[in-house]
Amino acid sequence: MCGIVGYAGPKSAVDVVVDGLRRLEYRGYDSAGVCVVADGHLSVAKRAGKLANLEKELAEHPLPVSGLAIGHTRWATHGGPTDTNAHPHLSANGRVAVVHNGIIENFAQLRSELAEVGITPVSQTDTEIAAQLLGLEVEKGAGLSEALRAVCNRLEGAFTLVAVDAEQPDTVAAARRNSPLVVGVGDGENFVASDVAAFIEHTREAIELGQDQVVTITPSTVTVQTFAGEPATVRPYHVDWDLSAAEKGGFDWFMRKEIYEQPKAVADTLLGRHDASGALRLDEIRISQAELRAVDKIIVIACGTSFYAGLVAKYAIEHWTRVPCEVELASEFRYRDPIVGPTTLVVTISQSGETADTLMAIRHAREQKAKVLAICNTNGSTIPRESDAVIYTHAGPEIGVASTKGFLTQLVACYLLGLYLAQVRGTKFGDEIAVLIEELDKIPAAIEGQLGDMAGVLQLAADFAEAPSVLFLGRHVGYPVALEGALKLKELAYIHAEGFAAGELKHGPIALIENELPVFVVMPPQGRDMLHDKVISNIQEIRARGARTIVLAEEGDADAGPYADVMITLPKVPTLLQPLVAIVPLQIFACELATRKGHDVDQPRNLAKSVTVE
Ligand code: F6R
Repeated sequence: MCGIVGYAGPKSAVDVVVDGLRRLEYRGYDSAGVCVVADGHLSVAKRAGKLANLEKELAEHPLPVSGLAIGHTRWATHGGPTDTNAHPHLSANGRVAVVHNGIIENFAQLRSELAEVGITPVSQTDTEIAAQLLGLEVEKGAGLSEALRAVCNRLEGAFTLVAVDAEQPDTVAAARRNSPLVVGVGDGENFVASDVAAFIEHTREAIELGQDQVVTITPSTVTVQTFAGEPATVRPYHVDWDLSAAEKGGFDWFMRKEIYEQPKAVADTLLGRHDASGALRLDEIRISQAELRAVDKIIVIACGTSFYAGLVAKYAIEHWTRVPCEVELASEFRYRDPIVGPTTLVVTISQSGETADTLMAIRHAREQKAKVLAICNTNGSTIPRESDAVIYTHAGPEIGVASTKGFLTQLVACYLLGLYLAQVRGTKFGDEIAVLIEELDKIPAAIEGQLGDMAGVLQLAADFAEAPSVLFLGRHVGYPVALEGALKLKELAYIHAEGFAAGELKHGPIALIENELPVFVVMPPQGRDMLHDKVISNIQEIRARGARTIVLAEEGDADAGPYADVMITLPKVPTLLQPLVAIVPLQIFACELATRKGHDVDQPRNLAKSVTVE
């Protein structure tokens, strides 16, 4: 949460930073601000609300021309989303400005210390405390980086800080602990940002920073040190996607673009991961085959949509490998004293690779000596770096706050992992694996076909635009699809939506059914799945109580038709792979219904893409 940019170079720093903030706005949009250093002074503009408010302010009152600036787009934690609480924050002596992502946990104590030396913060933020401390350090004569290291050593919690000093007009210093920060290395210009999207227009050469490191950039230099002041080891890398991937490309919303990119995202995630005979090649898993054979328990840990991908993974992994697999919300995991050991494989799923709850769960699992394998979409992010192995999904940048292509590619990675474990452990024969791989390879075309025929779903969004509540039912792998369908609707359309396991309905939730209530039902495939008939009974039960049933059923499912007010046809795929196609109409439904209500589907209220606080 919160997007941060810093720039040192020959261009108009305000323009570079504001452009960068536009690409980071998905990280938080409660307020935005920018600070430049010019003629030995700091000049700040900041506004509550979306970046557009800041842009208007800058158009009316331009900041001085400068080649050095920092900027911030905020997801509020300490203090409401006001102009005063917007970043950057200045020290009382006017020397330094700071932007911050994360939470400084000992801020109350530090605030009291500041009061003792007569400094009363003007904002309610924890960030300003860091700015005030930094102001005191530079006043003692420390250089900006040295001062920042001194401050970081006093802070507890998770933070990325980026700072400038009025008296060092060519230097930006930045520090990170448990919160993202990357460096962009340009030609005569350098950048720091929360995400490469902020500088991809200018350079695709990046440096990944480790924990507790401070980076100092000038137009021509990049220096990285530990918080102790030692030279630090860093990993340079090339960003393999370009600016167009981070732009809307003719779509009105990133989310819509990302839904339509799903066939390619799935195909890219499968690419190169099996040979012509269908044998899996996951050389990137740096956990030995002997260790994988010794695994006696798998725990999948994730949050939100990624957690639902994990729920699907459980069905596939247990079925294919016969290894017990639990799925756990990352925010619950380490607090319940879980049973984890050297023969446990912990699989974490995270699109951003920065989710604090997931990161903390990984650290706990590794302390217990478990092997951790990350499924992640973001190269160079913290979660894969702190894991023993990683399977990258190749969805490309996901900018819409609600995950779509991220989810589908996570499912694909989970299937690949399950089949790979089955291959290594010998629980599935090569030809069975090859058949499933062949089916996975057909999925991009199947989704392409679905996306070409969404008129029925668009009509549904029009019909149900005023519905106060919508329910989603599914069984087996259809259950996580129901949960994800409901989450998409909640976060985008702000209406009450719940996903239930269809079999649980009669144990309570059926009391919610009333006349005209829309209920989506994900049908298990007919003929090949014993649950099919049971779900037909569930549909009858809710129809008898007046619900309007929208049934997602495989093409040719003749039994479902008579019980459906509306049928949405799904392509024929193996049962375990059905979530890949069943979720697509539900994504479109939520996106369409929310836009009809006039909501911003890329930046839903109260949310941020990358949840870097616990
Ligand atoms: C919902 C959504 C969130 C994320 C969750 C985990 O559309 O995007 O529920 O799935 O915050 O994020 P990652 O996958 O980045 O760890």
